[in-house]
Amino acid sequence: MGVTAVAILPEEMSKERFTWLKEIGAEVIATPGCESNVKEIYDKCWDIRRNRPDCVIFNQFDEFGNPCWHYNVTAPALEEVFLSVKSPKGQLAAYVSATGSAGTIGAGDYLKKQFPHMKIVASEALQCPTLLNNGFGGHRIEGIGDKHVPWVHNARNTDVVTAIDDEDCMRIFRLFNETEGKKYLKSCGIDAELVEQLGLLGISGVANILSAIKTAKYYEMTGEDVILSLATDSAEMYGSRLDELNAEKGVYTSLQAAKDMEKCLFGQSTDHLKELSYYDRKAIHNLKYFTWIEQQEKDLDDLNQLWNDRGVWAEQLQQATRWDEMINEFNEETGVLKSM
Ligand SMILES: Cc1ncc(COP(=O)(O)O)c(C=O)c1O
Repeated sequence: MGVTAVAILPEEMSKERFTWLKEIGAEVIATPGCESNVKEIYDKCWDIRRNRPDCVIFNQFDEFGNPCWHYNVTAPALEEVFLSVKSPKGQLAAYVSATGSAGTIGAGDYLKKQFPHMKIVASEALQCPTLLNNGFGGHRIEGIGDKHVPWVHNARNTDVVTAIDDEDCMRIFRLFNETEGKKYLKSCGIDAELVEQLGLLGISGVANILSAIKTAKYYEMTGEDVILSLATDSAEMYGSRLDELNAEKGVYTSLQAAKDMEKCLFGQSTDHLKELSYYDRKAIHNLKYFTWIEQQEKDLDDLNQLWNDRGVWAEQLQQATRWDEMINEFNEETGVLKSM
């Protein structure tokens, strides 16, 4: 379309992320702070909105296109996986998603329609437990936990919140990616092929696994219960984090691997897990007020509609067919597709 793409993200996010954005041709603006400093991004967006009227801002935290994608694309893919792995008596017990912009968790809305008894679990960092207890803070699980509730988070349909210690995530991330860690896992009898694939999990993917363990323990699940989750990115984005940890803590050893597996994986308990009541859900929804009405100039009626109007989420999440038509119309009009 001949436009310039600009990505805005906090300056302390991993080096690899900046390199990747530059590689795909985006201009990058780095705002102050770490992963959870999203208010600084919003401030930059307001600056652009006021001074560059020719710019269009796509804010993943308030665009329904974001959960809509996961509802229409991620969720059917997850369902396919579930149907292919489940035992004859198997049931879908939960869907776990670490939330940043709350797009990915939107897949849960689709899954719950098909499997109404399942739980939708939102996961965040213990160092920034906004959904768990209005908490705030910096943390190392890049991509999640941004000190506010996204506009597009369907709080009314969220059943459980878990907060995962970022130290556990970093230790398991080393276990899964350091040579000595992988050797140790294989010596425990874990399938070598599986061990070699653990690099497909980024730090938030590890958080999802730890959250799934908490959920399984809390609900006393058995081998018939299936928990679905996903890896939003892979270890490819965090090689520099491994280097930093080696510099800080020394070379990774098999003794460290044994400690990490026992403490952070097997030792994952049901602490920092909350099963949400009706009013817990409403409290999460109400937090949106301070970001979206007070700071970001959204309409109070729209906020209330997101809680009160049962049909509004289905309506928002099921727009994909119309959008596909509009994309086709657009392509028809420009003639670009035909010329390719
Ligand atoms: C690495 C990583 N994990 C998790 C998430 C959270 O996904 P969502 O923003 O859809 O809630 C993101 C979002 O960008 C991410 O980059």
